[in-house]
Amino acid sequence: MKITRTQVGIVGAGPAGLMLGHLLHMAGIDSVIVEDRARDYVIERVRAGVLEQGTVDLMIDSGVGDRLQREGLSHDGFSINVYGKLRRIDLAALTGRRITVYGQNEVVKDLIGARMATGRALLFEVADVAVHGLKSSQPGIRFNHNGELQEIRCDFIAGCDGFHGICRPSIPEDSIRIYERVYPFAWLGVLASAAPSSPELVYSRHARGFALFSMRSNAVTRLYLQCAPDEDLTQWPDNRIWDELLARLGNDDGWKPNVGPITQKGVTGMRSFVVEPMQYGRMFLAGDAAHIVPPTGAKGLNLAMADVWRLSRALAEHYQSGSDALLDRYSDDCLQRVWRAQQFSWWMTSLLHRSDTGNPFDSRRQRAELEYVTNSLAAMTSLAENYVGFPIAHEFAGELEKTVLS
Ligand code: FAD
Ligand code: PHB
Repeated sequence: MKITRTQVGIVGAGPAGLMLGHLLHMAGIDSVIVEDRARDYVIERVRAGVLEQGTVDLMIDSGVGDRLQREGLSHDGFSINVYGKLRRIDLAALTGRRITVYGQNEVVKDLIGARMATGRALLFEVADVAVHGLKSSQPGIRFNHNGELQEIRCDFIAGCDGFHGICRPSIPEDSIRIYERVYPFAWLGVLASAAPSSPELVYSRHARGFALFSMRSNAVTRLYLQCAPDEDLTQWPDNRIWDELLARLGNDDGWKPNVGPITQKGVTGMRSFVVEPMQYGRMFLAGDAAHIVPPTGAKGLNLAMADVWRLSRALAEHYQSGSDALLDRYSDDCLQRVWRAQQFSWWMTSLLHRSDTGNPFDSRRQRAELEYVTNSLAAMTSLAENYVGFPIAHEFAGELEKTVLS
């Protein structure tokens, strides 16, 4: 068996694992990243699109933001289509902050490029990954790579392997607590070769259910439709998808998305999930490995970035001063932001989706809330503040105070 030694062993080369490896490199800390998928698969996987200002700042400040600054689409606001009436949420005017549309796969591509330039280890297509010795001073990651059994011995392990990874399930059940909610609907998402017909996102509440208009570039539109969790994609030929999207997104002023060839489609389940604490011995969980939000609030990738920024800072303190104060607080500090995002994502989801509870009271109540949120300055400000996100590099109490007082 080949044995390698590093300071931090990172499982997973999604945004969390790659950004952690990058920030550790900037702090002079060595790491090895192992990923079970192929490099092209990781780069091409279509997922998030909305970056908070904090994520954009982190990319720029750590030297991986050049292409993001050139190609990212900066948005001052978005709209909510309330049963045909378009209401704009002016993020910039309400908060002084904006969001940037830049595909998660582009973020991953930039981070892989930066990793390659450092010469530090990033192994794709590893198999049978397992972690061990988590409570010892030298935990390890074992896996097969190119037919050879390997072990990485490290000071710490970062579990950045997403919701279906192996790190979280390696923690004894009685050492963690799981909070979870599964929704009775899902999103059917498509990528279309069509110029976006609006410069900003449109979240739509229609009698037939939720729909979302987003984009990836000036030539590519990204769209989602509320569907059943077990929706059969074979029942959705392209013309049925467009009929439904046009019906749900079109508004009373005649706006509708441009139609074009659909190049990718998939169904995404909706779940809220948190594990507490986000640590077991010398293994720290970050990103989707520790928490999942329904995508309505566009928070998942941004939370992953905030986690690894904290973890990199805590590990840097450990190596520079020998203090574990930040490592000991890692889980508590992350969970404050995580629960804020959980509450917001749950709220956005229940505000915008059709839920067939069978009780007409629920749809009337939801409509009243939609009217309030798109007409009251106070309610719009709260929505905007949560949507643009809180700065990453500030303590939470300070952030809130700053936002409220400014
Ligand atoms: P992942 O991206 O899941 O990365 C984990 C990595 O670990 C993967 O590369 C995986 O292959 C690898 N891995 C898994 N198991 C193993 C193993 N055993 N060994 C080695 N490697 C392993 N978030 C936003 O902020 N804004 C949005 O607009 C947004 N929209 C979304 C839309 C959709 C349709 C979906 C599905 C998600 C969206 N999200 C959004 C959420 C966002 O995509 C995730 O939160 C983000 O990918 C989390 O990053 P991560 O690195 O923690 O996990
Ligand atoms: C996306 O562009 O993929 C996207 C945008 C906003 C969301 C979720 C996904 O809330």
